[in-house]
Amino acid sequence: MSLTLTNPLRPALLAAARSERIERTLSRSRLTRSLVTRFVPGAAEDAVMDAVRKLLADGRAISVDYLGEDISEAAEAETTVNAYLSLLAAYRRLELPATNGARRLEISIKLSALGQSLPGGEELALVNARIICQAAAEAGAWVNVDAEDHTTTDSTLAIVRELRREFPDVATVLQAYLHRTEADCAELSGTGSRIRLCKGAYSEPAEVAFQGKDEVDASYLRCLRVLMQGEGYPMVASHDPQMIAAAQSYAVEAGRGTDDYEIQMLFGIRDAEQTRLVGEGVTVRTYVPFGDDWYGYFMRRLAERPANLIFFLRSLVGRK
Ligand code: FDA
Repeated sequence: MSLTLTNPLRPALLAAARSERIERTLSRSRLTRSLVTRFVPGAAEDAVMDAVRKLLADGRAISVDYLGEDISEAAEAETTVNAYLSLLAAYRRLELPATNGARRLEISIKLSALGQSLPGGEELALVNARIICQAAAEAGAWVNVDAEDHTTTDSTLAIVRELRREFPDVATVLQAYLHRTEADCAELSGTGSRIRLCKGAYSEPAEVAFQGKDEVDASYLRCLRVLMQGEGYPMVASHDPQMIAAAQSYAVEAGRGTDDYEIQMLFGIRDAEQTRLVGEGVTVRTYVPFGDDWYGYFMRRLAERPANLIFFLRSLVGRK
């Protein structure tokens, strides 16, 4: 079933993802918390590092995201920076052998969690991101800057450009549902660039974003071809079998080996498929979120796929 963006409940769920009232109600429920573990291995660093060790043993690469977004005070950004510094120290203790190709350890950061939307926030987010990038470089880990809603895209790309002067392998994410993204892919597919292409998870107006699944899929395929034919390292973030098959065939067409691009999926989604692709020699990176602030992330997963929502509702009913 292909229901992304045509899921009738998607707008309501994405609106709920931004509602503090619903967040308070759901976050207090122990039941919800136990269901969240399908998508978020835990709130604590120990829990995420347990998951990371298992994924690495399965032959996967990982990207860990400390959950949090849209903060209202600079102190919250400091908490996020400290969480990443502690996580990167835990990465160092893994003592993985250095590899020539894809670094197996990555972190994903959200600039809104580093202060981007506060007054004077671009500068604050840049300063905070630099601290994290320096620690990541010392830990031998990559950094990827997540994409948030379209009002942040210009600012995010400007900050990433600035970070790349000092840390050239900093990556970012482009969202195929935005009209602008094909042009962004062309601009950002030069030598040394790393771009994660996803469909896009936010509620966006028709002026800036394709609304139907078919249009979004078609845009994804156009963007993917641009990235595969470019000089950079494409990261194909999708659970969609059609996008994954296209990635594999465009890679062959562009003369890329299995080390010259990667497939990325979220923790807890199509896990058997992730393992199967690893068996085929494909580089697969699992995106693993952790932390207390799981609400927005969890609601976006429910909005993506009715089956996720049904699983959630069934579990609620079944466990009452
Ligand atoms: P989509 O949801 O369109 O589903 C297409 C098909 O995939 C389905 O019909 C089904 O066949 C299969 N499928 C999907 N989910 C499945 C499941 N649970 N079980 C079985 N089959 C399933 N977004 C954003 O805006 N900014 C960001 O920075 C990121 N970062 C990011 C990183 C990574 C690693 C991933 C995988 C995704 C993101 N996203 C994101 C989220 C992304 O934009 C998008 O919302 C989701 O990946 C869902 O889109 P898909 O391409 O997976 O397919």
